[in-house]
Amino acid sequence: MTRLLFFPGSLRAQASSTALLKALAARLPEDVTSQTADIAALPFYNADYDGGAPVAALLAQVKAADGVVFVTPEYNYSVPGVLKNAIDWASRPGYNSVFKGKPCLVVTTSAGALGGVRAQGHLKQILSAMLAEPFPWQEIVVPEAVKKVKDGVFADQAVLDFAGAAMSAFLERIRRQ
Ligand SMILES: Cc1cc2nc3c(=O)[nH]c(=O)nc-3n(C[C@H](O)[C@H](O)[C@H](O)COP(=O)(O)O)c2cc1C
Repeated sequence: MTRLLFFPGSLRAQASSTALLKALAARLPEDVTSQTADIAALPFYNADYDGGAPVAALLAQVKAADGVVFVTPEYNYSVPGVLKNAIDWASRPGYNSVFKGKPCLVVTTSAGALGGVRAQGHLKQILSAMLAEPFPWQEIVVPEAVKKVKDGVFADQAVLDFAGAAMSAFLERIRRQ
């Protein structure tokens, strides 16, 4: 089995990015299992403290995962603070964290026209700071994501096909490892 860990970037219940995350998870092949990190449970990063059980759980999930998939909106041209907080917890010790060498797929969304492309670049740079391995592929940026959710379900077939092809290539790369 291949194990994926999803990181959401939005905490709101009706998040379009989370709807897309769930749609991607639902379309994984049968030999792939997935979990979603509970980034809402994490305290603010503080190097004076180990973060307790929520951080321990996150580190164990990242360590056990064969690959990590981020599905996040863009906030103020970058990565939402809640997601950056989760990444910061998982990034220690520097250059030797659970993210070192970890294959990562990045998907960004926005309500507007640009699909979170600036957050996409920032997130890949952040991953490089941890010596993680952002998957090289056409950028999966999803504009007007809010309009693509119908009754709580992400329903844009073109996006699902494009992201699905990237996911297949990502899984193939993990299996070759
Ligand atoms: C704090 C904040 C900052 C935002 N900054 C951006 C931005 O820089 N670029 C953008 O395209 N949309 C931005 N938006 C709009 C989001 O794309 C929109 O709220 C989207 O629905 C959030 O994703 P979600 O549906 O997954 O929660 C921002 C929204 C919030 C709440």
